[in-house]
Amino acid sequence: MIQSQSIQASPPQPELPILVAQGLTRRFGGLVAVSGVSFSVKPGEIFGLIGPNGAGKTTLFNLMTGLIRPSSGTLWYRGSEISCLPPYQIAARGIARTFQNIRLFGNLSALENVLIAQHRQIQSGIVSGVLNLPKNRQEEDSIRQRALNLLERVGIQRDRIHEKANNFAYGEQRRLEIARALALQPQILLLDEPAAGMNPNEKQQLSQFIRQVRAEFDLTILLIEHHVPLVMGLCDTIAVLDFGELIALGDPAVVRQDPAVIEAYLGGE
Ligand SMILES: Nc1ncnc2c1ncn2[C@@H]1O[C@H](COP(=O)(O)OP(=O)(O)O)[C@@H](O)[C@H]1O
Ligand SMILES: [Mg+2]
Repeated sequence: MIQSQSIQASPPQPELPILVAQGLTRRFGGLVAVSGVSFSVKPGEIFGLIGPNGAGKTTLFNLMTGLIRPSSGTLWYRGSEISCLPPYQIAARGIARTFQNIRLFGNLSALENVLIAQHRQIQSGIVSGVLNLPKNRQEEDSIRQRALNLLERVGIQRDRIHEKANNFAYGEQRRLEIARALALQPQILLLDEPAAGMNPNEKQQLSQFIRQVRAEFDLTILLIEHHVPLVMGLCDTIAVLDFGELIALGDPAVVRQDPAVIEAYLGGE
């Protein structure tokens, strides 16, 4: 009789984090804007970063995108250190962002704003570009098509893509910024207060949109947001910063009950 042999299934692999911060610190003169912050982000999650004004949230994004360097501590992305890479290299590796203060080219059209983001990625050399060889034209066509798709995806109507970015309403400009960030084909998208200045209805739509974008583009999303219900409803993990220090980290429902968080941030709610 054949002995039934239990097939040893390999143990479930713990999911490797896509982004890790270890003891991250950034000083500006005597001010410690980010102080010994450690956390890790799982691939595919929506990771919320909350905290009072001046808590160091944007500074953390600036560190992650190479705009500033840490005073000490380390950032790893997919297992390799990125702490001292310049912004373009970090962007090329797959980390894209939007800004708290919208940074579109206001006098360029919506379409041009997205095309510019993609332009760096054109593979053909300058020679074929100057001669307008077929390979280059094909590439331009596909880049243009991708830009059009992204604009459509963020809800900018086709008949408005040639309008100047400045002419768009605030909420539309924020969505245009997201389209521009997505044009870089990132793996991680950092959104710095994307709902700022939006009305409750727009906030609700944005929340749905972020979820859809995550699924569609297979993204990991880090989100700075003040609107607590939006953050609680949307995020898988929440990190709370206060005076540069991480005072709570974890499941939204747990973080919400944390006395230090209530004291520092949710007190007025
Ligand atoms: N480039 C800078 N130079 C000097 N101080 C800065 C700079 N960037 C941020 N800070 C200071 O660091 C602290 C954290 O700022 P920030 O990260 O913008 O906070 P948050 O985004 O949480 O509101 C604030 O006190 C701010 O004034
Ligand atoms: Mg900020």
